[in-house]
Amino acid sequence: MKNTLVALALLGLVGCAGTMEKPTPPAPGAQANDALYRALGGTEGITRVVDTFLQRINADARINTLFRTVDHDDLRRLVIEQLCAATGGPCKYTGRSMEEAHNGLNLTEADFKAFVDDLIAAMNQLKVPKSNQKKLLALLAPMKPQIVGQ
Ligand code: HEM
Repeated sequence: MKNTLVALALLGLVGCAGTMEKPTPPAPGAQANDALYRALGGTEGITRVVDTFLQRINADARINTLFRTVDHDDLRRLVIEQLCAATGGPCKYTGRSMEEAHNGLNLTEADFKAFVDDLIAAMNQLKVPKSNQKKLLALLAPMKPQIVGQ
């Protein structure tokens, strides 16, 4: 009995030391500051956010008609790439510039708000901590002039 307890205690200690001393190794091609990328769960976590976000956009009558003729697989891939790269991850964004992509759509402030509302709702659904949500939104906010009114 005593031996079992000692063994369990040792296992506990080993397990604990294992998780504390093993920081996630940087992904190949990672940028210097990839803290937000890692905090969001890397490409896997970002993919979950984008999938939930795009589902919400498709169900959002305020803006879903804008996406009716869009290739959803392409958009999904490009938004994942863009968020991965913007948060410091090891991805390269291969899509068009924000001006080019949104040119002719005549997007309004209300469209932009709906889009951001859907992104926040997706992150809330996935229980992304508010501090990380704010950091991600702060990366997207400066893109607004290249998107609204193009
Ligand atoms: C910061 C906010 C936004 C980001 C980061 C973003 C990102 C993107 C990206 C990466 C693409 C694909 C680019 C490509 O095809 O090469 C795209 C396309 C598109 N976005 Fe956005 N977007 C934003 C805001 C919006 C808003 C507010 C709307 C409308 C409510 C919108 C509607 C669209 C549509 C309809 C397309 C497809 C355009 C086409 O294929 O002709 N986007 N966006």
